[in-house]
Amino acid sequence: MFEGKVAIVTGGASGIGLATVECFARSGALVVIADIDANGGENAAQNINGEGGRALSITTDVSDPEQISEMVEKTQSVFGRIDILVNNAAALSLLIEDDHLLNTEIDVWDQTYRANQQSAMVASKCVLPSMLEQGAGAIVNVSSVDGMSGDDTRFAYAMTKAALNQLTMMVATRYGKQGIRCNAVAPGLVLSPAADAGLTPPVQQVFADNSLVPAHGAVPDEVAAVITFLASTQASFINGEIIRVDGGLLSHVSHLAGIRSIANTDG
Ligand SMILES: NC(=O)c1ccc[n+]([C@@H]2O[C@H](COP(=O)([O-])OP(=O)(O)OC[C@H]3O[C@@H](n4cnc5c(N)ncnc54)[C@H](O)[C@@H]3O)[C@@H](O)[C@H]2O)c1
Repeated sequence: MFEGKVAIVTGGASGIGLATVECFARSGALVVIADIDANGGENAAQNINGEGGRALSITTDVSDPEQISEMVEKTQSVFGRIDILVNNAAALSLLIEDDHLLNTEIDVWDQTYRANQQSAMVASKCVLPSMLEQGAGAIVNVSSVDGMSGDDTRFAYAMTKAALNQLTMMVATRYGKQGIRCNAVAPGLVLSPAADAGLTPPVQQVFADNSLVPAHGAVPDEVAAVITFLASTQASFINGEIIRVDGGLLSHVSHLAGIRSIANTDG
């Protein structure tokens, strides 16, 4: 599906990013893993190369525009072109300090913004010139349902995800006619290693109660499949779209799960 195509995946060493890297590599793409985790990126690249794929790890802190620019230049010089960019990295370690507005330090906001949102803007800005020259390119932003609804917590994170949705529509609108498609996925709960480890049984139950499919969360491959589809020519008539991969989490009113449990109690 992606024979000869070159794809950059930020945060490609773990979770959704790693599943996407593997999916691209299996489909014939040459993949750049741009992750702050040097060992994780190197291991992922070695595994793919060992299985007959082609991957290159370029250690990158996406909070730093300079490092993004160098990573894109290196991709160009090694592989000669860039067809796909997946803006997936996010500074999830900051979530612990990211609470409601009155309880979130400006510094946490700033770091979250640079890692989650500015990074996607800068990376898009760096790859667009060569994509425009080719007259084709696909950008997929990994957003979140947190950017589509209000919450008590994760103030900075949610704001960056909402901004990613807007970035998606802005890029699609301005460059669509020139062959660039820019779409986003908005996952709900995804059982990537970090997210899974932090789930207590009661929280898992809340997700199960609010999920409209049997599973309480997605596995990373289920999100990677949608990212891969959006990056492929099969999605050639989809542009500026934000696709929720959330088991229906935002498809129903929030009190449905509570009413259901009362109905069950009442028999
Ligand atoms: N897991 C979920 O429940 C969930 C839900 C909605 C959205 N998402 C989004 O999916 C994306 C991937 O999350 P995941 O669950 O796979 O997490 P993960 O922790 O498994 O992967 C995140 C990757 O990003 C890398 N990273 C972190 N900061 C970076 C930086 N500054 N520069 C470069 N790389 C950096 C990490 O090293 C890691 O490899 C994120 O954008 C996240 O917001 C996840």
